Amino acid sequence: MLNFNYCNPTRILFGRDEHKKLGQALQKENIGKVLIVYGGGSALRNGTVSAVQSSLEEVGIEYFTIGGVRPNPTLDFAGKVKKIAVDSQVDALLAIGGGSVIDTCKVAAAWAKYEGDAWDFFTKGVAIKEALPVACVLTIPAAGSEQSIRMVINHNGLKLGTASEKIRPLISVVNPELFFTLPENQIAAGVVDMISHIFERYFTNTEHVEFVSGQAEAAIRTAIEMGPKLIENPKDYDAWCQVAMVGSWAHNGYYGLGQVEDWACHAMEHELSAYDPTITHGAGLAVITPAWLRYVASVNPARMQRFAQSVMGEETLEGAIKKLQAFYQTMEMPSKLSQLGLTEEALKACAESACARTGTIGQFKKLTSEDVLAIYRSVF
Ligand code: NZQ
Ligand code: ZN
Repeated sequence: MLNFNYCNPTRILFGRDEHKKLGQALQKENIGKVLIVYGGGSALRNGTVSAVQSSLEEVGIEYFTIGGVRPNPTLDFAGKVKKIAVDSQVDALLAIGGGSVIDTCKVAAAWAKYEGDAWDFFTKGVAIKEALPVACVLTIPAAGSEQSIRMVINHNGLKLGTASEKIRPLISVVNPELFFTLPENQIAAGVVDMISHIFERYFTNTEHVEFVSGQAEAAIRTAIEMGPKLIENPKDYDAWCQVAMVGSWAHNGYYGLGQVEDWACHAMEHELSAYDPTITHGAGLAVITPAWLRYVASVNPARMQRFAQSVMGEETLEGAIKKLQAFYQTMEMPSKLSQLGLTEEALKACAESACARTGTIGQFKKLTSEDVLAIYRSVF
């Protein structure tokens, strides 16, 4: 196992009605003025925005509000948010939404404290030295951005991510009741995404990581058990509690402690949703993950065998992959890239772009653009 240096200061307010207590929690942090940011309108329609606004008013926190973040959020919109945040001198950004809204706020929060263009963080390796605090009211458990040090943004046909401790949220409300209005496809994509965040860490060649691996296996099994219950009944509070915890913990760094992480599936998927922003991140991952497992299986048969037995309850890796695919199917996720509207031309462009900046992607097996194209083609 490798050394690690881990600090996760995000305060989680978990459970029914907790978003109504956010004002008090922010007040304790000496935050007096915030910019509320939300997405395309679901949080307005189901009353979450107004409930949060009321909780701020109760304690005298001043706020401005801007909506309109789209899935696969853009740097341009984050720039608008940054401008309002700076002009109105807010103390913090308050995201009400999922990964797209939270990441928009993270970009704006770092940009508010940076003289240059925020794209530098993604393309020039500029380190984030300072950022406004970000608070979140999560409305979809999926990306894990409410506890993560990462942010992902679309710009100029690229979708890039970067990480910094400075953008890990200060406070995140995770109230499973806010997930009741999610459409089926977003529930499913969210569950697939959180499982992938654990896979990206679980598939490692680092040895002697039994403790973390055991926890990861329990989390993946929980998501696989609960996901279909939510498709059946999107108002199952108890199932949502379990899925919400898996989603939040999946990406807070815990499951990667002391080991080399992979991230090839995410890199391959980000190319697809950069190429066509109507592609949902989780749906892309559902197609790519089984193909990646088959492609890299020979690198570390022992790890794959452990996955088959301890996660999927199968004797062979092929049996485990088939069971995983059946699970994705139960969640009504696609199984072919052509179902996402991608063409052979698109796959070539995505494979090229995936490795353009770094030469290879992934750590479990370093993949060249030829490998990436072969993986894409195997599930075209
Ligand atoms: O925009 P609105 O109207 O709110 O609708 C959203 C959106 O259409 C809808 N939704 C959210 N909560 C809802 C709801 N609809 C009804 N009721 C609710 N309670 O769901 C749709 C998707 O929202 P989005 O925020 O895009 O989803 P998600 O949380 O999956 O975020 C995806 C983004 O996060 C990035 C992805 O790449 C993608 O851009 N990721 C961010 C990560 C991070 N920062 O750590 C890690 C992830 O791997 C991921 O890459
Ligand atoms: Zn993801």
